[in-house]
Amino acid sequence: MAALDSKQNNLNTTMQREGFTSTLGAIAATLGSAVGLGNIWKFPYVTGENGGAAFIIVYLIFVLLIGLPLMLGEFIVGRRAQANTVGAYRRLAPDQPWFLGGYMGILAAILIMAFYSEVAGWVLAYIAKAASGALNGISGLEAEHIFAQLQGQVWQPLIWQWVVFLIIAVVIACGVQKGIERMTRTLLPILFVLLLICDIRALTLPGAGEGLRFLFAPDFSKITGPVLLAAMGLAFFKLSLGVGTMMTYGSYMTRADNLPQTAAKVAFSDFLVSILAGIAIFPAVFAFGLQPEAGASLLFLTIPMVFNAMPLGSIFLVIFFVLAGVASIGAMISLVEVPVAFLVEEKGWKRSRATGFTIFFMAVLGILATLSGSTLSDQQIFGMNWFNLYDYISSSILMPVGGLIVALFVGWHLKYPVIRDEASNDGTLNNAGLMKVYTVIIRYITPVAIIVILLSGLGVISL
Ligand code: TRP
Repeated sequence: MAALDSKQNNLNTTMQREGFTSTLGAIAATLGSAVGLGNIWKFPYVTGENGGAAFIIVYLIFVLLIGLPLMLGEFIVGRRAQANTVGAYRRLAPDQPWFLGGYMGILAAILIMAFYSEVAGWVLAYIAKAASGALNGISGLEAEHIFAQLQGQVWQPLIWQWVVFLIIAVVIACGVQKGIERMTRTLLPILFVLLLICDIRALTLPGAGEGLRFLFAPDFSKITGPVLLAAMGLAFFKLSLGVGTMMTYGSYMTRADNLPQTAAKVAFSDFLVSILAGIAIFPAVFAFGLQPEAGASLLFLTIPMVFNAMPLGSIFLVIFFVLAGVASIGAMISLVEVPVAFLVEEKGWKRSRATGFTIFFMAVLGILATLSGSTLSDQQIFGMNWFNLYDYISSSILMPVGGLIVALFVGWHLKYPVIRDEASNDGTLNNAGLMKVYTVIIRYITPVAIIVILLSGLGVISL
């Protein structure tokens, strides 16, 4: 995330922008944004709530037909315009209302961060619990109790959440993004290996077969409109789409970066991590008598049990949550970057002020999400508490609509030569055939799919 260097502090007259220093840096940053708590926390719990294998298949189809084309689309718009999300639309379509999509993305980034930071706070709390031995040898019932107790308190989760914001602020303020980039690059592979170890242990638990059946034997009768919308929302959330994150990161890429390849690599690796997390979690769900529909707590109930069932498990458990925390930093930085890039480039703010303001604003909204586990647990807005409301508005409305705007913009507003030049690096990459197919997908398939799923999920039409 070299792009976030402090040198970018002032918007000078020549609009010199910092960018990623290398192709590897660009991939590390985008992958760092995509891979996060979404893989190990959200993917398993949403899969559990929506019936398992059939949901995963639908999700994968959406990743290919909606996620991948949109990621490339955001890269194209960002790199072409060399600007933040509002500025990018303004530059490529002056005097047209497309830029409103940019503002929507900023709102989405703030809402996502308001609840994401809470989950990252739970992760920190679990590092402490694991290190103190409080999770050693617990039963399924105790695991549920420990999580409910954390969530039901007022100050503890709030303070952990603020520690998360503090860490993010310090990381950004110190301009150590390059260090973080390097750290992510070395630590993500370790997380990957740790997930593999979990997988092996989970697969050898008594009753693991039922978990595997849940993950891989599809029952398509479980697919309904709301399930489709959940799968699409997850694809957006997972790949950091429809918010302007990938557009902003695309604007930091150089002329040498291979956009289609970067998008494909990120989408593939991201899916792999999600599936590995699923294989670690679901056998344990069934082996320890937990519920696949447990919801947002699923990760925190199952993972301690899996590690308890292996030698040196209590040490591995601490390492696991530390790595999960590290993985979440790259994702959160990318969320903060969307409003910050806007404030710096469009409003001429200093980078430090923009960052402080953005984080403060996110933290204030985050209080409601966190208190929805305790003081505000009775408060219902459209039948949801604040945590679920933020999640629903962002994943089920703002991101799909933001993605729809990207698809329409790339497919119908941009001229074909622009897409071709960006996707092929001015003809130096040999992918003209592929890009012909791409333009058809982004013009017709992606937007129609988004509209249909959105309407059926919201109950406007029934499939
Ligand atoms: N993709 C991240 C995850 O799975 C979360 C995230 C980061 C995100 N940036 C985003 C989600 C932008 C939506 C939009 O953990």
